[in-house]
Amino acid sequence: MSTLPLVLMTHTLPADWIVSLEGKCQIVKGPIDATEMDITLYEHLAEAQALFTLLTIQIGKNEIDQAPNMRVISNMAVGVDNIDIATCTQRRIPVGNTPGVLTEGTADLAMALLLAAARGLPQASLDAREGRWKTWSPTGWLGKDLNGATIGIVGMGKIGGAVAKRAMGFGMRVVYYDPQTKDISQAESCSFEDVLKKSDFISLHVPLNSQTHHLMNQQAFDLMRSDAILVNASRGSVVDTDALYKALLDKRIAGAALDVTDPEPLPPDHPLLTLQNCLVVPHIGSATRNTRRHMAELACENLLAGLQGRRLPYCVNPEVYERQS
Ligand code: DGY
Repeated sequence: MSTLPLVLMTHTLPADWIVSLEGKCQIVKGPIDATEMDITLYEHLAEAQALFTLLTIQIGKNEIDQAPNMRVISNMAVGVDNIDIATCTQRRIPVGNTPGVLTEGTADLAMALLLAAARGLPQASLDAREGRWKTWSPTGWLGKDLNGATIGIVGMGKIGGAVAKRAMGFGMRVVYYDPQTKDISQAESCSFEDVLKKSDFISLHVPLNSQTHHLMNQQAFDLMRSDAILVNASRGSVVDTDALYKALLDKRIAGAALDVTDPEPLPPDHPLLTLQNCLVVPHIGSATRNTRRHMAELACENLLAGLQGRRLPYCVNPEVYERQS
């Protein structure tokens, strides 16, 4: 019988991504395509000392209450809105995330979405494949310029900053809204409303929490320019999906390009998927080989630190380390 601590992993990941765990714990894994915590993992919650999870798995009070021996929860994501952090903190369970390693990949994808929407690439590609490309057309497939256009970045954290850097490289003027004071050279800090009013492109880079849930609602779309395009590579629920659908249908705004949706994934018959001015991709912001490997490695580092009683390198609830009075 092994005396190594028991780790639950909600998904089966490539062995070489989690090699640092070898010989340090026993692991019970869920299937690679799990959309919720597998039933077999629930059976082990009572004895588990660590949980390695993905952003798609909800870890709520129910799960935490069933795990009296849990010493660390490690999320392979920067966003931790899938985890009940308050309950973890109350139980003094540190929760780890993976910031930094996905900044550049996610910023690349946000720019790819912006470019694809600006130049109508999905439709142009379909037209080329389906025989509608008859000739070089002086008035066909006309899009928006990036050079000289204004991008409004909502949430100027690491990823927002990396998008700003890329946008400047394309000759864009950058305005941004962030509730915390930032000092970003060559970018103009504005109120949220002014960012909405001024921008040709709005790119969302905020975490999902009670303040950002449905930040982009009907009032927000009403403030946007009618030729503006919304890019969302943050979390689906930052946008009110029904309000977005209406704004796109009524041409209140020109387009949207979404890496994340609410619900996620969208069912194939969802009305948003019928709109030509809406590009949707399946939450692939961090989906490069290097980035995903680095995320897994960082999640393992957090997990091992927790198991070994060390401070997590990336902890979202550092209050758990404060002395209790
Ligand atoms: C994260 O880490 O939160 C991202 O959404 C993953 O792509």
